[in-house]
Amino acid sequence: MPLPTINPTQTAAWQKLQAHFEQMKSAQMQDLFAADAQRTAKFHIEWEDFLFDYSKNIVSEETLALLQDLATEVELKSAIEQYFGGGLINQTENRAVLHTALRSKQTAPILVDGQDILPEIAAVKAKMRAFANSIISGAHTGYTGKAIETVVNIGIGGSDLGPAMLAEALKYYTNHLRVHFISNIDGDHVQELLKTLDPETTLFVIVSKTFTTQETLTNAQTIRAWFLQHASQPDVAKHFVAVSTNLQKVQDFGIAPENIFPMWDWVGGRFSLWSAVGLSICLAVGPDHFEELLNGAYQMDTYFKTAPFEQNMPVVMALLSIWYNNFFGAETEAMIPYNQYLQKLVPYLQQGIMESNGKRVGRDGQPVSHQTGTIVWGEPGTNSQHAFFQLIHQGTKLIPTDFIGFKQSLYGNKEHHDKLMSNFFAQTEALLMGRPEAPGLSPFKVFTGNKPTNTLLIDKLTPTSLGALIALYEHKLFVQGIIWNIFSYDQWGVELGKELANSILKDIEAAQMAPHDASTTFLLKKFLS
Ligand code: F6P
Repeated sequence: MPLPTINPTQTAAWQKLQAHFEQMKSAQMQDLFAADAQRTAKFHIEWEDFLFDYSKNIVSEETLALLQDLATEVELKSAIEQYFGGGLINQTENRAVLHTALRSKQTAPILVDGQDILPEIAAVKAKMRAFANSIISGAHTGYTGKAIETVVNIGIGGSDLGPAMLAEALKYYTNHLRVHFISNIDGDHVQELLKTLDPETTLFVIVSKTFTTQETLTNAQTIRAWFLQHASQPDVAKHFVAVSTNLQKVQDFGIAPENIFPMWDWVGGRFSLWSAVGLSICLAVGPDHFEELLNGAYQMDTYFKTAPFEQNMPVVMALLSIWYNNFFGAETEAMIPYNQYLQKLVPYLQQGIMESNGKRVGRDGQPVSHQTGTIVWGEPGTNSQHAFFQLIHQGTKLIPTDFIGFKQSLYGNKEHHDKLMSNFFAQTEALLMGRPEAPGLSPFKVFTGNKPTNTLLIDKLTPTSLGALIALYEHKLFVQGIIWNIFSYDQWGVELGKELANSILKDIEAAQMAPHDASTTFLLKKFLS
């Protein structure tokens, strides 16, 4: 069943929200807190080891009720069922969207084209586990008999960002293997890494869902040529494995079938870290921690599927974001993890959120009349406080911000953690309360406050809590796509640039130019001169 086409702006809830916005647009959160001693009690959700406080938002109970009505009117509940049930919700590519099946513990079959996909998923997981154990234990040796010490993930986009983010985020849980990532086609990037590698002890994991991506294939070829300067062709089998849906192209590249870890077209690249795309992480943290990561995501999935909207963290987060994006006209939103391990979380989520919801055409094929895709950005605190927080506090733009923090640190350094978290709490307080004008106070030192924030306080950064956190944002963006009436799971917007790059490459190689626009022709001539 296709997703319904419902223009959100034509719903009764949207019309009411529009009218309601006129009352709320100049509301002061300080007044809302003063008027209701129960505000925080009402506007927070506790689930497992997550606490989500959303009371510091410019919303009333009526706002939330209307936003939930909006979710009901666009038939979110049945869309969620389609999402988890294998409906072809990636309609423009005629595909299901089933990254959730990769972490599912359900035994009832999940069907794609009438076939249960759970046995294939289990088989690939078992293959990953066995391979990871053989590398970690040293049983799998390189071409000179030495154990593998270094793993290099070669991929880009979803075939890089997820594993690279996890390699940082789960550093505390890693074993002796060093993991590196090669993504950019920039040859200097490759050379800098190759300088540090020992071919005898390095395993290369080539990750490409399509196995046609220019960057990944070029990098893989360069690296294989480098490897063959040291070793011989039969040695490739001990040092190169691949993750892909395109088994034929992988074999054409010279990788034997037993060294291929399959994935499927119902896993979107930007949601693929739960599949064999996570192999380098499974190697780095071991299969048990990798399984815990999947479990955390599965727990979030189950909660998202079953919790009523008002108690449903991904739904409430999505609705608040829509409130600011579509009614207040907020241009961006920020995400600040108070945790250095999460330094790559925002770049990772940028692909998920912006590649998914950066769409201008609705599910009816017509341009939408409302804003879609949020622009997300951010860096860990406290570093970001000393970089761009000035603009959030005293600039002219409204930037709703998520603060993500943990009750415990991993190494238990109390002094540092108390200082880190005092900054975490201080920022949301400052953004709420500001510093009002006062006699003798310089106008440059006035803070208006009334800047919306969400606080996510989680017990501890573990593979399980991280899995749940990532799934939380995956579901938030899903809800937003449903409400905006767009298709979140294709990415046609990246194609045109790829096509033009191929045609320009031909021009450069032939040093002869096909017609381009005047500016591009001018630049190419300068480049070739
Ligand atoms: O360029 C966009 C994209 O298609 C992403 O969606 C994807 O994650 C990335 O390229 C890499 O694709 P592949 O895994 O097929 O190499």
